[in-house]
Amino acid sequence: MITDAAPIVTARVGHDDSHTLEGYLATGGYEGLRRALELGRDQVRAEVDAASLLGRGGAGFPAGRKWSMLGRADVTYLVVNGDESEPATFKDHLLVERDPHQVIEGATIAAYALGVAQAFVFCRGEFALGLERLTAAVNEAYAHGALGRSIFGSDFSLDLVIHPGAGAYICGEETALLESLEGKRGFPRIKPPYFPAAIGLYGAPTVVNNVETVSNLPWIVRHGGAAFAALGTGSSTGTRLFALSGHVRRPGWYELEMSKVTFRDLIFDPSLGGGLAEGRSLKAFIPGGVSAPWFGPEQLDLGLDQEAVGKAGSMLGSGSVVVMDDSTCVLRAAWRITRFFHRESCGQCTPCREGGGWLEKILRRLEEGGGREEDLDLLMDACDNIAPGVSWPPQQTTICVLGPSIPSSIASAVRMFRDELLLHVKEGGCPLRGAR
Ligand SMILES: Cc1cc2nc3c(=O)[nH]c(=O)nc-3n(C[C@H](O)[C@H](O)[C@H](O)COP(=O)(O)O)c2cc1C
Ligand code: SF4
Repeated sequence: MITDAAPIVTARVGHDDSHTLEGYLATGGYEGLRRALELGRDQVRAEVDAASLLGRGGAGFPAGRKWSMLGRADVTYLVVNGDESEPATFKDHLLVERDPHQVIEGATIAAYALGVAQAFVFCRGEFALGLERLTAAVNEAYAHGALGRSIFGSDFSLDLVIHPGAGAYICGEETALLESLEGKRGFPRIKPPYFPAAIGLYGAPTVVNNVETVSNLPWIVRHGGAAFAALGTGSSTGTRLFALSGHVRRPGWYELEMSKVTFRDLIFDPSLGGGLAEGRSLKAFIPGGVSAPWFGPEQLDLGLDQEAVGKAGSMLGSGSVVVMDDSTCVLRAAWRITRFFHRESCGQCTPCREGGGWLEKILRRLEEGGGREEDLDLLMDACDNIAPGVSWPPQQTTICVLGPSIPSSIASAVRMFRDELLLHVKEGGCPLRGAR
């Protein structure tokens, strides 16, 4: 046993009826909300502060601090971000599909603590089953008195609206999401303000939190913030849901205690990733979604810890870990990722719109055999124009972080595997025939 921490957000996932109200109530469902109403708003906020719950959407900002940006003044809207469109990221999908009532209960607790009477769940439109279940769960919650007027007989009322996204990755960026909710094109808003706390949806104070972030709230309220903070170490408290994919024997989601489990455990432990295929060795892995700089085997013993991963030059980001074994063409991997970002760029900023396209073209010509040695410097130069210094966290020349995420995979491939990239030039194409 790597850690004996019990699961928090996936505790019900093994039950066939985990998505129904009946199944939810039989496993402690809505007890967190009842407890929250007894505790009162200030005490709920105090528990979330004590939990040191970091946001699970990517940036890892503490939820309690985000909620306190307006002091004790009321927020107008709560928006739960379930857009989850980044390649290899599939944790919120699980939570929406398998435990929709937990998302609703978490959102309702957050709304209560924030003094909000109107909340939204912005959910990726392609989550067909998830949306069906979430919609059914919202209807059940209204009928049960967990949503709507005078929740469980209290003086707190909340309406919750589900809004399916239309398929754009950029609508996961919180200000683009708000534009989309307002019925406009999903363009990220100019910053400052950096958070929608003061000027958010329809210009009103808004808190945006991720699906997994709010899914932790029922447990935190029931067990206390201190119990949550007792898991993990330092600022990385509680458990976290990791989506493991790529060249491992057992890809899938794993809810793990933060910090206590290492990348080596996650990838190689027989009860988790189960290691690589027979005869294969680890070439690289992406520790936190395709926006993140890559790590090599020498970083395997780092804990799944926000601070430690940040200090090592990358991020835990969206919690998706992608494993690449020695059969991987790293150039092709960087190309595929860049192609995704270029396609998903909203086009407002020249470095992102044009730079992404140039980089994609250079990578393609290298992969297809038309590359030149100087293309490697050209790649880094174009990356430097998007994110000066090509470091992590990135410097920004753009409105949002999508642009500065483009260099991550490219700079990782050039810096870690320069010789392999040069071999593409020398051999007029990919030296790893049949590379995955
Ligand atoms: C390009 C881009 C895409 C993003 N996609 C998501 C997403 O799908 N889900 C999400 O929760 N956050 C996403 N984020 C982060 C959000 O802007 C925001 O930080 C997050 O929803 C806040 O929730 P949290 O504090 O609970 O983590 C994205 C950010 C960027 C720049
Ligand atoms: S960085 Fe890219 S995605 Fe973000 S606002 Fe600018 S053009 Fe749009």
